[in-house]
Formats: sequence, C-alpha cells, structure tokens
Amino acid sequence: MKILVLGSGAREHAILLALAAEGAGHELLAAPGNAGIARDAELVADLDPNDPVAVTEFAGTANIDLVIVGPEAPLIAGVADALRERGIPVFGPGKTAAQLEGSKAFAKRVMDEAGVPTGRAVRARNRAEVETALDELGAPHVVKADGLAAGKGVIVTDDREAALAHADTYLPSGPVLIEEFLAGPEVSLFFVSDGDTVRALSPAQDYKRAYDGDAGPNTGGMGAYSPLPWLADRFGSEAEFVAEVTRTVAEPVIRHLDGEGTPFIGLLYAGLILTDSGVKVIEFNARFGDPETQVVLARLTSPLSELLMAAASGRLESEPDPTFSSDAAVTVVLASEGYPEKPVTGRPLTGLDAAASVEGVHLAHAATAETVDGLVATGGRVLNVVARGTDFAEARDRAYRALADITLPGSHHRTDIAARVAG
Ligand code: AMP
Ligand code: GLY
Repeated sequence: MKILVLGSGAREHAILLALAAEGAGHELLAAPGNAGIARDAELVADLDPNDPVAVTEFAGTANIDLVIVGPEAPLIAGVADALRERGIPVFGPGKTAAQLEGSKAFAKRVMDEAGVPTGRAVRARNRAEVETALDELGAPHVVKADGLAAGKGVIVTDDREAALAHADTYLPSGPVLIEEFLAGPEVSLFFVSDGDTVRALSPAQDYKRAYDGDAGPNTGGMGAYSPLPWLADRFGSEAEFVAEVTRTVAEPVIRHLDGEGTPFIGLLYAGLILTDSGVKVIEFNARFGDPETQVVLARLTSPLSELLMAAASGRLESEPDPTFSSDAAVTVVLASEGYPEKPVTGRPLTGLDAAASVEGVHLAHAATAETVDGLVATGGRVLNVVARGTDFAEARDRAYRALADITLPGSHHRTDIAARVAG
C-alpha cells in the first residue's frame, strides 16, 4: 500500500515504524515529518497537513491508498472530510465527530446523551459562575479550557485562587468547564472504529506531569507503559476490563455519533479514571495518544495497515481483533530544557546510534532536524526512547540505559516511568 501519514511527532514516527515492521513493502510518506521520520519514510515537507485542499490534491495526484491523520489539528480543519469526499480512504474522523476532542462541552453532551459514565461538570461563562461551581463541586478543583490547548488547558489543584486564576486566563476566549475531581488510577484505551464497529487496542498508562513523582505542570505526556498488569486485580483480566469499557463507553459513543449523522471513523481515545464507583471518562481524543501509541504499537503483532484500512473503508466488522505480544513496553520522553513552559530549542542532539543499538530499543523522533552541524532539537518533547522486554524491569533497564547514551544539553526526562510495575 502507498500510505501517507500526516504529522511530525513521535506518535507519527511510531505509526510509520509499525507499518514498516509489517514487512509488506508499503510505500510510506509523511507530511511534514521530521529528521527521524526521514529515515523511515519519504518526507513531503512542503505539504501543509492542515490544508484540506492541498492534502486532497496531493493524495489524489500521488495515488495514495490510505491517509492516516496523526494529530488533531488536521481533523478539526476538516482534512478527513475533504479526503472522504474525494473517495480517498482516510483514517481519522470528520471535523464534527472530532469535536469529541476539540470541544469539551461537545464531549460532555455526547456522554450525557449516550449514558457514558463521567464526572459532573459545570459550564461557567463568567467569574461569578466559576466561583459558584468551584464551591459546589469542592476541592480538589479541576478547571478546563473548552478547546484544544495541547494539555495545558487543564489545572487540577487544591488552591482555590490558582483555580480562579486559571479560569481567568481562559474566560476571555469562552466558557470554561469546572469538573468534579475523579480519584483513581488513569488508563488510556484506544478504539479503532469505522463509524459502526469498534475494535479495542491494548491499554496503556501515560505520565502527564513533568517531573518524577507526578510533580510539576501537566505536559503532553512524559512517558508511558503497556500493558497494565494491575488491571487483572480489579477486573479479573485485561480482556474483561477492555470488554467493559467497550460496552459502557466506546460503543455508546460510536452509536450516538452515527445516529447524529456524523460517524466517527478513526481512533477514539478514551482517557479513563478507575474510581471506586466504576470506570469514568475524563476526556476523549479523536486520534492516537502521544506517547501511549509508542508502547501500544510496539506490542502490536497483527498488521496495523489492514486494521486502519478496514476502518477507513467501512469493513471493520470482517476484520479480526488486533493481537498483542505479552512483552512489556516502556517509553521515556526526552524533553528540552524549559519544557513545558518555555522550551529551549536548537541544541545539538548526539548519541542516538548508541542508544538505538541497546537490545530491544528503538527511537521515535518528536522534534528533531538535521542541520549542517548535525542533529538538533526543535521543540519541547524531542524524542522517545521505546524499549521492550520480557518484563517491566528489563524494559525499564533497557530504556534508561539507552537514554544514558543520549546527550542534549539542559534536557530532562522522568526517571520513574513504569517503576510502579517493575517489581
Ligand atoms: P485532560 O486534558 O482532560 O486529559 O486532563 C489532563 C489531566 O488532568 C488528566 O490526564 C488527569 O490527570 C487530570 N484530570 C483531568 N480531569 C480530571 C478530573 N475530572 N479528575 C481528576 N483528574 C483530572
Ligand atoms: N498522552 C495524552 C494525549 O495524547 O493527549
């Protein structure tokens, strides 16, 4: 197949590596990609992934068989709608269904109407409504901007003043959501859908805070691991957990959106908290999660291209369930100095070959560029070390050994990824 992946992060690199690992001789293209992706796919560097007309023109002219949309921005911009209108298979929802991610208020409405378990939330349009909602729902306070904010639009705090200040930041651009705090472990679970049928992938856990021990600000994600061995203690097995969430969350949402005439064709990301009163949704995304994808796809043993193509062409029902290795997978994100607040970019990145030669390790690039002076970091999250092992102790050991080979002045990473499952 000739496959175009839109995006330029470690998630897109992980998707391309999974497609290449099938050994099916796919022709792989990425727009715009990055320096690491350039080693595994042909870059279409001058194609704007957020431009529906340009992407459709290119995909048509280049005879692309399947377009996979990585990030949310092209979805919200209507890139998938434009491709679908032209009859080009695309894995990614249209802009209305993508509001599940783009608008927290839309997601809450769909959950209410579809009977999906979630925390209570109040939409506040001004300071007075914020104050009333904070008092009603109590501490810890959860305040969310209603729109795409790259993980930065959310604050969880015991400090009422900080919650108010966060609301003040976002109120000028629209209402904010004040949510009930949900206590319990978090799980990211991905579902592939063709708008009707749903297939679950294997669950993962993401580390959202910047520093060890879950300290510091929220980020896009500093690391992840999969599978989640502790799910068996609560649910009997991972399969039973996945079946429950498929029944209570994914299927009702997919059915509801189909009923509204805006089917969700793509990746439904359910961000879940396992509370004492059951599994509840804290957020949906309309695309693969980053960095969870790096560990989930590292364990996938069935062909990714067939699964996504079946979803894009409305024949998921006849596609077998995806299968996963029992290996443990761990990913650690290397971040630039100052991330997430003010990342310092342009610094040299070295030692990657040594890191990639550690057994069971591969690298997924997030923000790198090749210059005359060599490889440099171009963003906050720079790259992911991804390691597999027969257990988490081995996978962790490999990941951190590989990280020790990499040099990026001023960089930081968490040292506790998957420590809680490594025994
Ligand atoms: P979101 O962007 O909605 O996923 O929020 C980012 C992070 O904030 C989540 O991964 C959680 O760790 C935390 N969070 C969001 N909403 C809640 C909530 N209602 N209760 C507890 N933690 C939350
Ligand atoms: N890892 C969180 C996200 O992709 O939104």
